[in-house]
Amino acid sequence: MYKILAKLPFRTNILHYLPSCHSTNEIAQQLLLTGSPEATVVITDDQIAGKGLGGNKWLSAPGQNLTFSIILKPDFLLPNEQFYITVAVSLGIVDALEDILPGEVKIKWPNDIYFNNKKMAGLLIENTIRGNTIESCIVGIGLNVNQIEFSGAFKATSIAIESGKKCDLNNVFNNVLSSVADYYVKQKDRDRKQLLNKYHNQLLGINELRKFKDAEGVFEGEITGTDEFGRLLISKNGNIQTYQRKEVEMLV
Ligand code: BTN
Repeated sequence: MYKILAKLPFRTNILHYLPSCHSTNEIAQQLLLTGSPEATVVITDDQIAGKGLGGNKWLSAPGQNLTFSIILKPDFLLPNEQFYITVAVSLGIVDALEDILPGEVKIKWPNDIYFNNKKMAGLLIENTIRGNTIESCIVGIGLNVNQIEFSGAFKATSIAIESGKKCDLNNVFNNVLSSVADYYVKQKDRDRKQLLNKYHNQLLGINELRKFKDAEGVFEGEITGTDEFGRLLISKNGNIQTYQRKEVEMLV
């Protein structure tokens, strides 16, 4: 049912479609073991054990959303530069969605995609580091497209909810994939700092007074950006604090 419609700037364009599977990231991991090349993509209509960040589950109604993984081999990045994969993929998704949605798409640090203060997509990037190289990287993308109802207290949304229209999954898949591919390739030959600035400009809450919670409790502060390793910088009581994931939460 899915087809890659255009030649992507990757070296290969291999697509595996599975009507149902446990987790496309897990399938991609198995494909890597059998020597699958960069840009192999795995997509399913029904992911029954989707993995989210921090051991969470990623739930997605069968046949209504996009759940897929891309194998990358970013040999041009050092392990301490791996945050640039997050930057490229997040910006790729933002650009693709801004062509469809009536408003600004935001990145909730580090890599959730938000629209109207609600989560529309999540990324699970799993890197394998060997010595001083990133041997492989699996980029898992869960994007809510046509699902209208979401259970639980969690504020989720979809393209259909926000645009009022159902979308063709294959078109959205192709737009996201080619935009992510473009940004990934840009990392190789463009000023990475420029892409990092673009990522900062797209951050939800950047330069706005917002409420956060860290180990010391709730406070008001302003996100000023990230460092090049992807740590969040927040101005708190006039000082810039640096946070790793899980050390701080923005209360949206
Ligand atoms: C998150 O926000 O917690 C990350 C969610 C990532 C979900 C995607 S869906 C495709 C890929 N396969 C998985 O098992 N997870 C990722």
